[in-house]
Amino acid sequence: MLGPTSSVTDLLRTRFLTRFLGLSISIFLFAVVFWLYNVSLHPKTHNASSDYPIVIQRTRDMFSNETRDIGILTIVDETANLDDYHFALDSMGCYAALQNYSFRIERVSQKWSALCNQTDIMMKRHCMVAHLLDDHEYSLVIDADIGVINPEKLIEDYIDERFDIIMYERFFNWEIAMGSFLIKRSNFSKEFFLNFANYELPNSKNGRDNGAVHIYLAELLVPLAKTEIQDCRSIWASATSYSDVFLFEACIKLILGSIREFPTKIKIHEKGTAWVRDGWITDSRWNPEVDFMIHGWQLRSLKSKKSFFFSGCGFACWRNPFFRPINQSECATGTTMWHYNADLLATKDEIRTELETLKIKVKRDFWTSAGKLAKYFR
Ligand SMILES: *[C@@H]1O[C@H](CO)[C@@H](O)[C@H](O)[C@H]1NC(C)=O
Ligand SMILES: *[C@@H]1O[C@H](CO)[C@@H](O)[C@H](O)[C@H]1NC(C)=O
Ligand SMILES: *[C@@H]1O[C@H](CO)[C@@H](O)[C@H](O)[C@H]1NC(C)=O
Ligand SMILES: *[C@@H]1O[C@H](CO)[C@@H](O)[C@H](O)[C@H]1NC(C)=O
Ligand SMILES: *[C@@H]1O[C@H](CO)[C@@H](O)[C@H](O)[C@H]1NC(C)=O
Ligand SMILES: *[C@@H]1O[C@H](CO)[C@@H](O)[C@H](O)[C@H]1NC(C)=O
Repeated sequence: MLGPTSSVTDLLRTRFLTRFLGLSISIFLFAVVFWLYNVSLHPKTHNASSDYPIVIQRTRDMFSNETRDIGILTIVDETANLDDYHFALDSMGCYAALQNYSFRIERVSQKWSALCNQTDIMMKRHCMVAHLLDDHEYSLVIDADIGVINPEKLIEDYIDERFDIIMYERFFNWEIAMGSFLIKRSNFSKEFFLNFANYELPNSKNGRDNGAVHIYLAELLVPLAKTEIQDCRSIWASATSYSDVFLFEACIKLILGSIREFPTKIKIHEKGTAWVRDGWITDSRWNPEVDFMIHGWQLRSLKSKKSFFFSGCGFACWRNPFFRPINQSECATGTTMWHYNADLLATKDEIRTELETLKIKVKRDFWTSAGKLAKYFR
């Protein structure tokens, strides 16, 4: 009995070794060819190769009846190094000076922590928002890595007087993003952010404020869907990965339905219709007519070096859209010149088409994820 079995084992082992060796050699050869291809086709051109200067003018008329008192607010951690966000902050600072918006960078501090004792920094930031929204009739709250690419666009164009809080859906999935929102000074807004800051996060991979806002909105806007919200909550509470968080968010999106406007209070922009989008989804290419602000300009994900294998720029990686740093001393005069990286300017149609294609893919991903929810109900 032992004889035949061991020879079968030997045979299998030999076959396995041959295949393994074959596979290893193929992978190695493939890597070499791929590397040579990259090196030959893509020389080190990661800096902008040509300048595309555009004269920028103030477009905001302080005497127009459409003009509102708007402050731009970004809240950063006590220990945050602002240099990591300098591309975004420089563009935002120049934009604010050019168009005469107030721009405030607020750091978490001991003083703030006395007022906002949330342990999660993201939740603490929402408590700070609740306290700071009294400063202006409208506040545009932004993450520090959101920059302006077309400074001639105005925040006023995104105000909808019918709503206190205006949010948007992220482009590459169906998540309601907390990276930026536009809020009206009101008791509703204040209460919304104070209560949200105190919303208890489950002990799971919870997506922090981005995860929490989904269930918070569902409880606020669709309070009668108690059972369905509980079902979604159980997915949230047992999440161990981002894909679980996105499943939970799909679950909530099914409760919110296709309604995007919740009268007198909250509006949620469909993807691609708000003031900001991720830059990496079009490989940092942009168009002034389509784009206003871009999310994701952190120094650590800037494509600065050629990576060994991949010349492309993947998830969250971005390329510098500027050919030259913004001259801050000119901004407040109302006329300045921004030097763009000509390589990254695309036509309106190119960007629209790219975004439309991605939108359809995300729609398909959404329904695939919605189907996966079945596994939670056994
Ligand atoms: C790219 O630009 C930076 C500063 O703008 C410079 O320090 C660096 O040497 C440049 N790299 C190449 C490859 O030209
Ligand atoms: C501003 O004035 C124009 C015309 O005078 C009017 O059509 C518009 O509704 C006004 N807008 C606001 C926000 O009052
Ligand atoms: C900027 O706005 C302030 C009020 O917010 C106003 O006093 C000032 O005149 C404005 N500056 C310009 C150049 O319009
Ligand atoms: C924060 O303060 C409130 C009372 O203001 C208290 O009930 C709560 O336990 C505190 N939370 C933390 C994490 O210290
Ligand atoms: C908002 O709340 C304050 C203090 O609680 C109150 O005095 C004020 O009347 C409220 N404003 C509105 C518009 O309800
Ligand atoms: C910035 O603009 C000012 C005013 O136009 C000019 O004097 C200065 O030389 C510029 N700085 C740079 C670095 O180009």
